[in-house]
This record gives sequence, structure tokens and C-alpha cells, in this order.
Amino acid sequence: MDTDRTVRVFTDFYRERGHHLITGSTLLPPPGDPVLFTTSGMHPLTPHLEGRPHHRGSRLVNVQRCLRTTDLDEIGDSTHLTVFEMLGSWSLGDYGHSQSLRWGYELLRDGFGIPRERLHVTVFGGDEQVGPDLESLRTWQKSGVPVELTRKDNWWSNGPVGPCGPDSEIFVWTGGTPPQGTPTTDPRWVEIWNHVFMRYRRLEDGSLRPLDRPSVDTGMGLERLVTILQGHDSVYDTDLFEPWMRLLPALWGLDEPSLRLVCDHLRSGVVVIGDGVRPSNTGRGYVLRRVVRRLLTTLRRDDPSRTLSDLPVELLQHTLDHFRTSCGTGLVRDVLLEEERRFDSLLERGRRLLSGPRYRGPLSEEDYGYLHDTHGLPRDLVLSLRREG
Ligand code: ALA
Repeated sequence: MDTDRTVRVFTDFYRERGHHLITGSTLLPPPGDPVLFTTSGMHPLTPHLEGRPHHRGSRLVNVQRCLRTTDLDEIGDSTHLTVFEMLGSWSLGDYGHSQSLRWGYELLRDGFGIPRERLHVTVFGGDEQVGPDLESLRTWQKSGVPVELTRKDNWWSNGPVGPCGPDSEIFVWTGGTPPQGTPTTDPRWVEIWNHVFMRYRRLEDGSLRPLDRPSVDTGMGLERLVTILQGHDSVYDTDLFEPWMRLLPALWGLDEPSLRLVCDHLRSGVVVIGDGVRPSNTGRGYVLRRVVRRLLTTLRRDDPSRTLSDLPVELLQHTLDHFRTSCGTGLVRDVLLEEERRFDSLLERGRRLLSGPRYRGPLSEEDYGYLHDTHGLPRDLVLSLRREG
């Protein structure tokens, strides 16, 4: 099942059950929101999960693109991506969480063809503040899917304050053997879907206030689901990365982790630029700048002559089309090339400075501070330039 079909099966399932498809488009959160980028499907819906009515009704479904920089160091492995998409469904004070779990199971089994034997779930087992989630436990027991109870792994919130609650996570067995163990004892159980029962709001003092109108918030990482449905171990082997993996190895001959990092960061950069962000030294622009500079550093490690001018337009087009972005490839390419030029002149300046007598020996904290504040040379760049020299 390719990615487009996977998305259609998900959204059609919920639309047939009275959910309105909302556009989960841009990475930029609504005005007034303090976070730089949308980090989960529910994020733009936070006020509605706290009780404000949504103009599209009380049952919603969407595909939301998200960006997380917390995982940057993991990029290059087979599952983490900087920009990813979440399939989400919501009941805003409408049906309860048992219904959500029953539909979730039905969709995985009948819509995506994942048999019960490959599934395992976890349910909130209770802590000092909130009792165990017995309703979810009973719902899963009736379905015959094995259940494990946990404490902190089954509580979800999007920050220290705001809507939160117990959740139930659904795992799929990805080992080559018959399923063994449980989600907390065997990593071959991979989490694919989280159903959160937003029953509380956490206040500044850490206490929980029950919401007048509890909601259900579910989120499933599209790329992970597609990887499993297509029977791969790595997201880079799915159709999502097909043109990248076809064109880039021949162009640049990178080792596998570097190839993955370059693909991930380029693709993320394209989406961020497509959503209107431009490189700068603060905020969102700085995230974009870091992503582009990281990928350039990796790209040039073995061959400094590599340049983004060689990047096939097909890759930009594929990414912009997939993310339903109307921005043209010419603009994205210009922004990337301009950033590459700036990076090159920064490197030039750095090389000149560091070859001077002042920087021959070991560098002090004061040196790093000066190079950064006065010349815009971050520490990791200084370190890599010194290694070069
Ligand atoms: N908001 C929940 C999550 O991101 C569904 O896991």
C-alpha cells in the first residue's frame, strides 16, 4: 500500500464515521502560539481540546505535518525524521475513548490488514494522582488484543501545562519471528498509534483539573505506518524516499548514515522553505539555517566540491507535491543556494581567522565566545575547521 493510499484509507475511514477532514497544512502554528513549529497533530487544536467549539464540528480528522528538533541527533537512523506527518482523529467532547479504541482496532485490522496476532497495546496503570484506566483495559480485553499496564509511558501532555490525560498506545510486532515479550520488554514491538484521553488540564502548580468536556486525541506517525505496511525496516526504503534514494547515491556517493541525514535535512529544509520560512539568526529561520548547515557539513566531509547546485529539481518537486505546497521549485532552490553561498563565505572567514597566530594553541572559552559573537562562527564549525587545518 503506497503512502497516498494509506492516507486515503485513514481519512476515508473517519469521514465515513462522521469526521470532518480539516486541512492540517503548514508547519507554522497559529499566530500568538509561542512554539516555533507544530510538533504534533493536536497542537493547533489545543484550545478546542480545552473546550472551545471548533467550527467544523466535534469529530475531526487530518494529516498534519510536524517538525521536531529534539530528535536531531537521531537523524541518520532508520526511523527518525525532522519533518514528518501525523495522521490524527479527534472527538471534541463527542464519543468516548472506548469507541476510539474500537475504531482504531477495526481500521488497523480491516483497513490496513494488520492481524490481531501482530498487535499489542499498553494502557495507563494508575499513579499517585489518577487511577488505572479500567475502561480502556476492558475494551482491549474484549477485543482479544494483549494489554500491558504502565505508568509514565501511558500519560500524554504537550507541555508542562494544558490538556493531558492517560493514553493507550498500539504497537505492531516487527520481528522476523512470532511475537514475543511485551512493548516494554522487546523493542521489536514498535509503537504506531497513540489514543489520548484528554480528561484533565494541568495547572501551573502541577495539579490536575478535570475538563468539563473530555476529548479524544489520536496520532499515528505516517512514515512509520507506511514503513510497516510496506514491510521495510527503514523509512528510507519506502516510496516516500524513492526518488531520493534513486538519484542521490549516484550523484554524491555518501555512506548510508550520511546519505540518510542529507536526505532528511534537505527534505525538511524544502518543506520549511515551502511554508515561508527564510534562513536567519533567530527563531524559525535559525532552525532552518542549522538544518541546512548541518547537511552541508555532512555533504562536504569527504568532498568539499559537492554543491547543492547539483540537486535534481525532481526531488524538490516531489517533496513540494507530497506536502501539498504551492511554492515553486525555483524559489526553494534560490533560497538553498543563497544559504550555501553564505555558509561558504563564513567558512572562508573562519579559515582566515583561525590560521592567524592568536588561534594556534588550544582555544579558551573566551576565544569560542568571541568567534561566535563577533564573527558568527559556532563552536562546532570552529572545531571542524581546526580539524581541517
Ligand atoms: N497527541 C498524541 C501524540 O502526539 C496523540 O502522541
